[in-house]
Amino acid sequence: MAFEISSEQEMIRLMARDFAKKELEPKAAEWDRHGIFPLEAVKKMGDVGLLGMMVPPEMGGSGAGAVAYSLALQEIAYACASSAVTMSVANLSTEPLLKFGTKEQKEKWLTGLAAGSLLGAFALTEPGAGSDPGSMTTTAVLKKDKYILNGSKVFITHGQQADLINLIARTGQEKGSRGLSAFLVEKGTPGFKIGTKEEKLGLRASNTVELIFEDCEIPAANLLGNPGEGFKVAMLALDSGRIGIASQAVGIARACLDEAVSYTKERRQFGKTINSFQAIQFMIADAATQIEAASWLTLAAADRKDRGVKFTKEASMAKLFASEAANAISYMALQVHGGYGYTKDYKVERLFRDARATTIYEGTSEIQRIVIAREIIKE
Ligand code: CAA
Repeated sequence: MAFEISSEQEMIRLMARDFAKKELEPKAAEWDRHGIFPLEAVKKMGDVGLLGMMVPPEMGGSGAGAVAYSLALQEIAYACASSAVTMSVANLSTEPLLKFGTKEQKEKWLTGLAAGSLLGAFALTEPGAGSDPGSMTTTAVLKKDKYILNGSKVFITHGQQADLINLIARTGQEKGSRGLSAFLVEKGTPGFKIGTKEEKLGLRASNTVELIFEDCEIPAANLLGNPGEGFKVAMLALDSGRIGIASQAVGIARACLDEAVSYTKERRQFGKTINSFQAIQFMIADAATQIEAASWLTLAAADRKDRGVKFTKEASMAKLFASEAANAISYMALQVHGGYGYTKDYKVERLFRDARATTIYEGTSEIQRIVIAREIIKE
């Protein structure tokens, strides 16, 4: 693999690091403790171009590409994993429009989403359709020039704050993944309301809600792509989303390692700092190696995306490896802190909780293995 981070990508990484240090890190613990969605900080992420990194400048984005996006997202996650998932889903929500949107749809929404003046969300999961989105029951029925939506979506990241929802719903009689279509639903549309807000273990500064549609009428012009293409739209969006979550996991893992290393330099037991014990050194060595591997897997998937090469398998490998590594490393970092790590006085407690979601959302580790195996068998 001939791959090098360009000076422009490095500049974006440093900009994101600086932004995260100033705008996110000082408040992240408080947002987490009180479950505050940091709307102002999210707007600022938009202002510095972090929410539309895949969208070309002529459509309001920064056009920085997937490698730069991954590097920036790692930095955001290092400081505040909740803000990282906001950034990831906001960027993800631009991709279906970019690939499948009509000229009118792009003009109406994409520019705003990319510039951060609008926030986008992605609604696929339902109470009975998680790993198997093909079993969803939300319907969209065409009546004259409108689609009528009925059903509900769950675990929708910043669904409450989003101005525009990428929604997948059933339009056809076919079973499974075949009868689904993608739609754009604006906030405030009559019949669309916000349901339960989840009280989560981690990522508490990322708002996660249920969306309810009751005879919600949207213009037929809000169909995204062709009728019946909804599953494909969702899968393509998730391929990209998985690079985002892998990057988030790398950022969390790095933060865990740094917290652990700095604690081992201060903590003294048996008359020495604990970093002089080989048991601790081995933990540090294993974690650093896993982070390096996770980071390269993630950047390799992102690089394929930037080169226009299929990256489904690589994104799933990156997501699988990085999220499992982040969980193992957060466990290690908390272990190194001993009893103190189990208290809210130490950042590692938040990181441990935040890491947990990464093996679950945007496809569990088990789903990633299915995707990887199917792609290998196809090859
Ligand atoms: N790109 C393009 N097309 C794809 C594709 C991809 N990556 N993956 C599948 N498809 C196409 C297939 O080619 C197939 O097309 P045809 O019917 O024309 O042959 C069609 O989609 C159906 O594919 P499968 O038969 O493989 O579908 P399946 O029902 O067996 O499901 C799956 C495959 C990989 C398990 C998929 O259901 C999946 O990814 N599940 C996990 C869902 C998920 O990640 N949910 C997370 C929700 S989002 C989230 O977490 C939000 C958040 O806010 C963070």
